[in-house]
Amino acid sequence: MLALAGLPRRWLSAQVAATGEKPYNRGFDFSLLYDWLTPTALFFVREHLPAPSISSSSDWKLSIDGAVKQPLEISFEDLLAQESVELAATLECAGNSVGGGMIGNAQWSGTSLRSLLEKAQLLPEAQFVRLWGADRDSSQDTNYFRSIPLAKAMHADTLLATKMNGEVLPRHHGFPLRAVIPGWYSMDSVKWLRRVEVLTSEDTGWWMSNPYRRQIRASAGEPETSTPVTAVQVKAAFSQPLDGAVLIGREFTVRGAAWAGEQRVRKVELSTDGGKSWQAARLLPVEGGDARPYAWVLWEYEWSIPDPGKYELVVRAGDDKGRVQPPERSGERIDMHELNYYQKVRCLVS
Ligand code: MTE
Repeated sequence: MLALAGLPRRWLSAQVAATGEKPYNRGFDFSLLYDWLTPTALFFVREHLPAPSISSSSDWKLSIDGAVKQPLEISFEDLLAQESVELAATLECAGNSVGGGMIGNAQWSGTSLRSLLEKAQLLPEAQFVRLWGADRDSSQDTNYFRSIPLAKAMHADTLLATKMNGEVLPRHHGFPLRAVIPGWYSMDSVKWLRRVEVLTSEDTGWWMSNPYRRQIRASAGEPETSTPVTAVQVKAAFSQPLDGAVLIGREFTVRGAAWAGEQRVRKVELSTDGGKSWQAARLLPVEGGDARPYAWVLWEYEWSIPDPGKYELVVRAGDDKGRVQPPERSGERIDMHELNYYQKVRCLVS
């Protein structure tokens, strides 16, 4: 079941009725996790609105306007001529469940958003950057958009990507251009990017004030609070075994992935007795190196199974800033984002 984060069902059906086309959504099947880079054909897709059909990049243009001295309109050709930047980044939807497949890791290439903002010459009052997609929401009378603070927009790794895993972006991943905001939940990685608007204050528009907010329950004397979801939390997931598996034999390699947003994964620990005792899993080297920021790391654990029977496996990760996963969802949260409590799978060994 997909988590259609923050969107009332009524609103979604109004959208389908208005356009006659449904937004396309699909998750990644974790049992197919063999490679560090998720093959594009298996990569999850999350769309709020039907994908625009942009068949060619030749008449496509990106505008940069708002609080800039020199508004720009850039053709796709000009974009390709910019200095190129490439990085691997895991995209995770903010509404991804524990063990859920709204996540994937890809190699992205394009140019830095910063280089274009510098060309447009930011005014001193610039504070936020709003990224507009070409997909239109007729019920709200607006296109999809998200805003990020200027510091994140100006970070050298914040990318406008034209390629995914070395190939031209497919339609459902944003052809011809998308933002990749590495280490942040991927609602901000706006697809079919058409316009970059520099704002002088925090964005209170519909797409920032309604979905993707962290809501903390009101408590003794403190009112309820709501702030936008931003950086990805540390989290680990199993790829094998998955819940309900039947295992035969006494040796089994438990596997999965772990990620930490802007930080590096430092450890993954596994319990085979429902969380009573923990052992370190091995982090697989990434292209010969250690875990890095933005991209997930694959892990494995050679499990020598003492006896046949029922087992509950639990996994948890920690990062190099000392963040660890919480065992349970915090009771103060009333939204359904940043779900990163321990994943548990039950299996039967015969
Ligand atoms: N960009 C546009 N224009 N429209 C969208 O609906 N969905 C966002 C983001 N960018 C979206 C978008 C969300 S919620 C997610 S999780 C990611 O795209 C998913 O990226 P993917 O479909 O390439 O995996």
